Parts: sequence; C-alpha cells; structure tokens
Amino acid sequence: MVRLAIDLPKIAKVTNTAIPVLIIVFGLAGYFFSFYFHFGTVFFFLLTLINYYYRHIQKPHAILRNFGILGQMRYLIESVGPEFRQYLYASDTEERPFSRVERAEVYRKSKDVDSSSSFGSLLNFDEHEIKLRHSMYPVDKKDSTPYSLTFGEERGIKNTYTITKPFIISAMSFGALGEHAVRSLARGARMAGIPMNTGEGGYPKYHLKEKCDLIFQMGTAKFGVRHKDGRLDDAKLARLAKNKHVKMIDIKLSQGAKPGKGGLLPKEKITKEISELRGVPMGKDVISPPHHLECTNARTTVKFIDHVQRVSELPVGIKLCLGSEHEFRELVEEMKKQNIFPDYINIDGAEGGTGAAPKSFMDDMGIPLFKALPLVQQILIDEGVRDRLKLVCGGKLISPGKQLMAMAMGADAVYTARGFMLAVGCIQALQCNKNTCPVGITTHEKDLQAGLVIADKAQRVSNYVKNLEHDFIELLASMGCKSVKDLTPERVYVPGKAHA
Ligand SMILES: Cc1cc2nc3c(=O)[nH]c(=O)nc-3n(C[C@H](O)[C@H](O)[C@H](O)COP(=O)(O)O)c2cc1C
Repeated sequence: MVRLAIDLPKIAKVTNTAIPVLIIVFGLAGYFFSFYFHFGTVFFFLLTLINYYYRHIQKPHAILRNFGILGQMRYLIESVGPEFRQYLYASDTEERPFSRVERAEVYRKSKDVDSSSSFGSLLNFDEHEIKLRHSMYPVDKKDSTPYSLTFGEERGIKNTYTITKPFIISAMSFGALGEHAVRSLARGARMAGIPMNTGEGGYPKYHLKEKCDLIFQMGTAKFGVRHKDGRLDDAKLARLAKNKHVKMIDIKLSQGAKPGKGGLLPKEKITKEISELRGVPMGKDVISPPHHLECTNARTTVKFIDHVQRVSELPVGIKLCLGSEHEFRELVEEMKKQNIFPDYINIDGAEGGTGAAPKSFMDDMGIPLFKALPLVQQILIDEGVRDRLKLVCGGKLISPGKQLMAMAMGADAVYTARGFMLAVGCIQALQCNKNTCPVGITTHEKDLQAGLVIADKAQRVSNYVKNLEHDFIELLASMGCKSVKDLTPERVYVPGKAHA
C-alpha cells in the first residue's frame, strides 16, 4: 500500500539538485526564446550561491549545512510559531503568563463593555485553586465604607499621601515603556484618580507632563537622582520631591522577575533622550547593580530608608521580592532597633513581570506572592509592628478577585503593571526587550508608537479602574464585608487549610 508522507531530507536533496539545473534551463530559455527568462537565470544563480554558502562555508547552523536553503523553512516557521500558537492552537485558558480568558477580561473592562458570561467558568475547579468565600449574609453595597488609605500617617509627617482607590499602577520605567505608553498610563491614572509608579527610569519627564500623582521609584542605579559613582545625590532627590505631583518615594530593593539582580536596559532601547534622563551612555546595555551601594546589610538598609525619608520629606516605601524569611525578619528587627520604619513595604511576587531579565531569574528565583504575602504579614504581626506601616503587593493581580485575595491575606492596597499594559492594548507578544512591541507599548520606534493613541488608551486605563472598582465592591459585599478592613485571611478558601 502506498503511504503518503513528507520526506523532508529527500525534498531538500531534490531542491539542492534542482536549483543549479534551473540555472541551465532558464539560461537556455533566455538564449533561445526570450531575454526575460534571464531574470530566472540570475535568480537561481543567486540562490545557488546562497545555497553553496549555507552548505559548505557557514558552520554554526547544522540544519542549513545539511539541508541548504530549505532548512531556512524551519527558522521561518519557528519565528512565526508563537503567533500561530497564540491565534490558532492555544486554548483559552492555557497561555502564560496570562491566558486569553484573563486578558479578555481586562480588555473588556478597559473598553467598558459588558463582561458577564454564560454557561460556566472556563477556569479549573479541581486543581487546588484558591477562592474567595462568600457570606450567606451579603451586605448591601450601598452600605460599603469608601476606601481610603493614608501613607505616612504612622510617622505623623506633614506630607502624608492618601489614596481613595486600592489600585496603583506599578513601576514601569520610561525606557522599558515608550513615550506614548507612559503618557497613556499617566493620563489614565489622573483620570481614574490613582497613583502611578514611575519605575526606575530616571527623571519622570513624560509622567509629569500628564500631571498624575506619582510614586518616584529609586532603583539600585538611582537614575535621575544619582552621583556619577551611583550613590544618592541628596540635592537632586530633594528637588524632585518638591514637585507637587511626586507624592511618595519607592526604594526598589528587588523585584519579583529578577530578585537579587539589578535592572537591565538593552542597548537597543537607549535613545539619546533616555541616556540624558538616566545619565548613562548610549550603545551599551545598562545594568543596575544588584543592591543599593548604601545597603549592604539590615543596619545600613534601615539607615538608608531613614536618610531618604529625611531628604525627601515624603512617605517612603521599599519594594522587594521575598527570598529569605530570616533576612526579612532581621530587617524588621533592625527597624525596631533603630525605631525607623518605611511608610510601606511593597511585596512583589516572583511571578512578576519585567521589561527584560534573564530567564533563569524569571523562572526559578523568589517566592510567589500568595506564599510570600502571608509570611510577611505574619512576621510583621509577630514582631508587633504591623501598625507601623502599610503593606502593598503585586504579582498578576489583574482581576478584582485576585486583588481581594491579596487584601484578605494582609495587603492594604494592590498594584499591577501588566494589568495596565493589557488595558492599553498589550497583546502579550513577549517582545518587551526587543524594541519591536507590535502595539507600540514597550518600544521607542515612532512608527510603532503611532498605533497607540494616547487619548484613547488613557480612557481605557480609566475604564479599567472604574470597572475593577465596581466588581471589587460587589465581591466585597458578597463576602459580607462593608469595608476592606473587614477582610481577614479566613475570607479566602485555601485548599487543604481548614478554617472559617
Ligand atoms: C515592562 C515592564 C517594566 C517594568 N519595570 C519595572 C521597573 O522599572 N521597576 C520595578 O520595580 N519593576 C518593574 N516592573 C515590574 C512591575 O512593576 C511589577 O512589580 C511586576 O510586573 C508585578 O506586577 P504584574 O504581575 O501586575 O505585572 C516592570 C514590569 C514590566 C512588565
């Protein structure tokens, strides 16, 4: 019986033999019939040269050496594989980091369209999922207490900062993001009445243009507020902190996607402007150190927090991904010893995103949020200092349900970076580090940014927040809570953990 199968090696052999033969065929046709056949002669001649190079000269690619020009098909198909998988083959729930179901919900919220569904959830219910516990006696959401959180009140400082929605746009630098994305997010933040973290991109020129409330992030390289040697320039920080839109300072000790590693801005993304805002040269990858030069142990870290609080006169928090509980407890003990506390601690789950990071760090380093958060909360309670600061957190908290889970586990407010990227149209192309973002978010190419219309995307940010808040309050009421203050860990069902 004849069995149909594609024998690729055989096809490659035939192709490699046919190409030089076609030079002769077209050459003869050009000679005898029409000059125009010589276009084919030239074409196949060039193909033969390329094929010769692939098969006999270049050495790094075994496939090209063995199969010649046809081997390129493999690279061609591989290069469009992610798009094919995303659009044609991947199921609605299996993509990472966010499934289509998760992304679609953000898109709907940001486009302000009805997000009710029918027939049943597409998510799993049998794989140890954490769920919220509703109450048999939900409260009327009209009786909900409005949310309010004041940073800096514990220290009794003059410049406290109050938020009235529990959501924050998480750190993403101008550099990782292009101008249009920064301005869309910043304008959207202003419209929605929430703060935006600047990320570690230096002087927040574009954020300031949009006049939203800002949390200025000081990464380990201290872009925008550094001396040449990488230490803090107090005068620059004090000047920036005086800007009325800068409400808090975020000292980044580490982030979930690359804890223990400094930031990385690939050279492809360093424009002249970025090099000026950050104070770094062009044409070279910019690597931030893995820790602040001032912070070499718990004692010096707490001293540095104190220093930044004094210089900026603003609420100051620290951002970290939990690694060692022992080290974290030591840090808290040192805070007690020096009687110095940051105004908030910001816990970033290991599942957090990034503009660029080594894969091994993204995959294998740090503790995920829903494991880290209860540990941090417990240490703060054990040490008797939970009331000395606020706790905020992030790590794929893009839906109100997940946000409530985090708040029930101890967070006072939540933030998301990629939730807001999706709101402004991110399609999860996974090219943030290449300057080729097809929807113009993580790129500085003017042509690509042209697709990102600031006014339109800012509206989406605002819609996203509005609809998050709506669902958030509804869920809270169903849990029998009038306020986020009523949330306790028992309100979350964790499989295998018997309570409530
Ligand atoms: C494009 C991009 C750029 C980021 N830049 C920074 C940064 O400058 N500083 C920082 O602390 N975290 C940065 N992050 C991490 C986020 O602020 C956040 O901590 C992390 O992604 C978790 O939130 P998410 O899961 O909601 O995205 C970045 C993340 C992304 C996706």
